[in-house]
Amino acid sequence: MKNNSLVTIADYSKEKILYLIEMAKWFEKHPNEKILQNKIVATLFFEPSTRTRLSFETAANRLGARVIGFADPKATSSTKGESLKDTIMMVSNYADVIVMRHHLEGAARYASEVSPIPVVNAGDGANQHPSQTMLDLVSISKTQNTLENLNICLVGDLKYGRTVHSLLFAMRHFNPTFQFVAPEELRMPNEYKLFCEKYSIPYEEHVEFTPEIINNADILYMTRVQKERFSDIMEYERVKNVYILHKEMLKDSKENLRILHPLPRVNEIAYDVDSSPKAYYFQQAKNGLYARQAILCDCLGFTLDGINSNDKYRTI
Ligand code: CP
Repeated sequence: MKNNSLVTIADYSKEKILYLIEMAKWFEKHPNEKILQNKIVATLFFEPSTRTRLSFETAANRLGARVIGFADPKATSSTKGESLKDTIMMVSNYADVIVMRHHLEGAARYASEVSPIPVVNAGDGANQHPSQTMLDLVSISKTQNTLENLNICLVGDLKYGRTVHSLLFAMRHFNPTFQFVAPEELRMPNEYKLFCEKYSIPYEEHVEFTPEIINNADILYMTRVQKERFSDIMEYERVKNVYILHKEMLKDSKENLRILHPLPRVNEIAYDVDSSPKAYYFQQAKNGLYARQAILCDCLGFTLDGINSNDKYRTI
C-alpha cells in the first residue's frame, strides 16, 4: 500500500495481521512509550464518532505525539466547497499521518492516493473499518486463545455494517465458519458472499436468530442497524429492533462464547447481558487503544523489534 496507508484490511497478509496483534498486546503492557514524540497525528472526522476518534487520539497522546484535527466538518473549509483532495494536501503539510472517517465509500482509498503521508481509514461509508477489525481480532485472539477454526455469528445490519465487511476479509486467513443473521433487507451483500466462495469459507444465511445459532457460536458479533445509511426512514423503522439479545438467551451457549459489538449499541443487546461473563464489548473497545497504537506506529515505520531494542523509548 502506498505510503504505508491502511485503507482495507484485505491489503494485509496473515503475517502482517498476526504481527500487529502481537504489537497491540505489547502496547497493552507498555501503553506509555513515547515512540511518536515530535510526530503530529491529524484526525479528520467527516462523520460522528466516539470510540474511534477518542481511542486514536488517546493512542497518539500516550505515544507522545500531538493531535490536530476536527470532529465536526461543519467547522472546516469543506463547507465552503474545498475538495477532499485539497483538504488532504493541506493537512499533509502539517501532520505526519492522517486518520480519516468519511461518509463516502472509497474516500479513504482516494485520500491515500493523493496524500504524500500515510492515511488510516477510520471508516468509509458502509465499506470498510480496518482499525476496528484489528481491535476485533485482538479481542478474539485474547478471548479464544486462537483465531483459527472459529464459528463466528454476525448479527444485524450486514448490508451497511462496515465492521462486519472488514472482519470477514480479515478472517479469511483463519479458516472460520460464518453464520450471517440478518433480515432480508439487510443481508450480507453479494460481493462478500462471493469473497467467501472464492476462499472456500463456509457460511450460512439466516433470518431467524435461533437458540441453535447462539449455542453453536464461538463469537456472537452483534451490530447496530445503521440508521444513517437509510434513504427511506420507514424502512429503518421496520427493521430497527429486529434482533435483541437478552441474557436468558445465553443459558445454553458455549463456555468460550464471547459477545462482541463494535458499539454504539442502540437496542441490539439488552442491558442485562452486561453482567454476563460472556459480554466482552467494553473490553473490546478498550483493546482499540492498543490496536490503534500499533497501527499508528506501523504506519509511521516503527517496528516492534526497533521499539524493543531502543532504550530511549523506555519511560516506565
Ligand atoms: N465502533 C466505532 O466505530 O465506534 P464510533 O462510531 O463511536 O467511532
